[in-house]
Amino acid sequence: MCGIFAYTGKVGKEAGGVLLDGLLSLEYRGYDSAGIFLPEAGSVRTPGAVAELRKKIPKDFKGKSGIAHLRWATHGEPTEKNAHPHADCEGEVWVVHNGIIENFKELKEKLLAEGHMFKSDSDTEVLAHLVEEHLKHEKSFEKAALAALNEVRGTYGIALQYKKEPDRIIAARMGSPIVLGLGDGEHFIASDPSPILPHTKKVVFLEDGEVAVITPDGHKIFKLDSTNVKREATHIDWSVEESQKGGYEHFMLKEIMEGPQVIEDTLRGRLIADEGMAKLGGLESVANELKNIERIIIVAQGTAYIAGLVGEYMLEEYAGVPVEVEYASEFRYRSPVLNQKTALIAISQSGETLDTLEAVREGKRKGALTLGIVNAVGSTIARETDAGVYNHAGPEISVASTKALISQLAALVLFTLFFGRQRSMGVKTAKEIIAELKTLPKKIETILKSEETIAALAKKYANNRDFLFIGRKSNYPIALEGALKLKEISYMHAEGYSAGEMKHGPIAMIDEHFPTLAIATVGSVYEKMVSNIHEIKARKGPVIALATEGDKEIGKLADDVIYVPETIEMLSPILNVVPLQLFAYYFAKEKGLNVDRPRNLAKSVTVE
Ligand code: AGP
Ligand code: GLU
Repeated sequence: MCGIFAYTGKVGKEAGGVLLDGLLSLEYRGYDSAGIFLPEAGSVRTPGAVAELRKKIPKDFKGKSGIAHLRWATHGEPTEKNAHPHADCEGEVWVVHNGIIENFKELKEKLLAEGHMFKSDSDTEVLAHLVEEHLKHEKSFEKAALAALNEVRGTYGIALQYKKEPDRIIAARMGSPIVLGLGDGEHFIASDPSPILPHTKKVVFLEDGEVAVITPDGHKIFKLDSTNVKREATHIDWSVEESQKGGYEHFMLKEIMEGPQVIEDTLRGRLIADEGMAKLGGLESVANELKNIERIIIVAQGTAYIAGLVGEYMLEEYAGVPVEVEYASEFRYRSPVLNQKTALIAISQSGETLDTLEAVREGKRKGALTLGIVNAVGSTIARETDAGVYNHAGPEISVASTKALISQLAALVLFTLFFGRQRSMGVKTAKEIIAELKTLPKKIETILKSEETIAALAKKYANNRDFLFIGRKSNYPIALEGALKLKEISYMHAEGYSAGEMKHGPIAMIDEHFPTLAIATVGSVYEKMVSNIHEIKARKGPVIALATEGDKEIGKLADDVIYVPETIEMLSPILNVVPLQLFAYYFAKEKGLNVDRPRNLAKSVTVE
């Protein structure tokens, strides 16, 4: 995601100052680069955040309207060339964009054939040239913008400005948030209300498929088919910080709630359902080498390592490739035996974890093909791996990683489809996986609706000093993740264990004061998990069972049950981790701890 802010007014405010001050409250949405355009003064763009942009603003940079942007790159390195705002050939039409233009390649080819000259590698730039092209035939800027948007596939929250109509700014929303600020003699467009609030508390949230035009005196909203929209303004009295969190108390909860959207964004444009294929542009350059890979090593730390453990089950079962998963911090000090037929996959949200980066370098030294599954575009691991796939999960602010894990697991399903269809995976199996994958956003939404139940459970168990999480097969790593979340944000002792290990030690800890969360959703090891729960109950241990909707048996056995919708076993970790994220969040909240900034931790561990 990125930060968009646009202003038009006739109340004597300097648009440059309004926009730069407003961008500060949007920096949490990403700052690979920053940029601003005022029709009366021109554009300034720079890598980095608002502070860097301010340094480059000339003294006479004046105007009564403009658009500004903070970028979280998805297409094109985070350089000045790819910074927004982007312009058309003549520098007349300017655009700032949040989202991904899925069909930008075909649009760009069409526009190049029509003689347009592109300056950047970003997907966004096509929007400016598309409007420019339609301005040749349409009567107005508004109609040209509408015609252009009707050609676009993908997600966007945009603000468009045309030098010939400087006091008019067009906004549009499809999948990325846009809110209008309604002032007296001034109007605003932003990604969230935070930059608008210092000027007005009267806002209107656009819905998907809607377009708006603002001028100093007013606004109007219509749909892509030009039908008018009437929407009452909302008066919001959030603080700026509450607005950045979308009204949630913590970024962690906001990011858990973004889970369904994150799956959509990770999968966007990457599934060819009728062929049962995953289309991973970032792997195309090494597709032939991947055909010859005989072994995969996954290196990562923390939650990313846990994603790798789940990936091991997927890749071995459905792609038939032997996989080892290693803590990068261990791998880099071993003497691993690698060769050209080994692929080393580095999973990292930040793309800057030093141990993971050094593991990539070690893999390269030993001749392995290195791939990345990284969220931060242009990060060091993304740049140093031979190829890879970006998560497109948007910035993850909370130290505890939640939505990034959901995205990493979805990306590993894409990898499994990619590797599997190069090998023995049949189109039928692939189509079944893709069909079920597409149902996950809705199923996660169902789980998120049980937030209150989970919060009540966290409250019930908040005074416990220990917690055991158990699971089997690809839900064993999810047990580890449930424990990790509790450790890192509530500082309590929690263990994740393979349920099959209970008899080999852990069960000795069980008594009426030692609760266990057992992941017992339907699958090939369900009966085994039921036995584990029996064994724990026989020792008076309290049990919270994670079970599949409709499972009455578990309800009779466990002290508490959290139900999740049914899915195929391979994808069950993606659903099952969500209640554990919520449980840990409410557990830490109950203890009154700093959920987003837990003690002793950093969001990105760039030291050894
Ligand atoms: C997980 O909640 C933690 N924030 C931490 O374990 C994290 O997953 C780990 O440091 C790896 O970070 P990365 O994904 O940015 O490499
Ligand atoms: N896809 C656009 C880019 O990479 C916008 C990214 C964003 O949402 O910031 O520039």
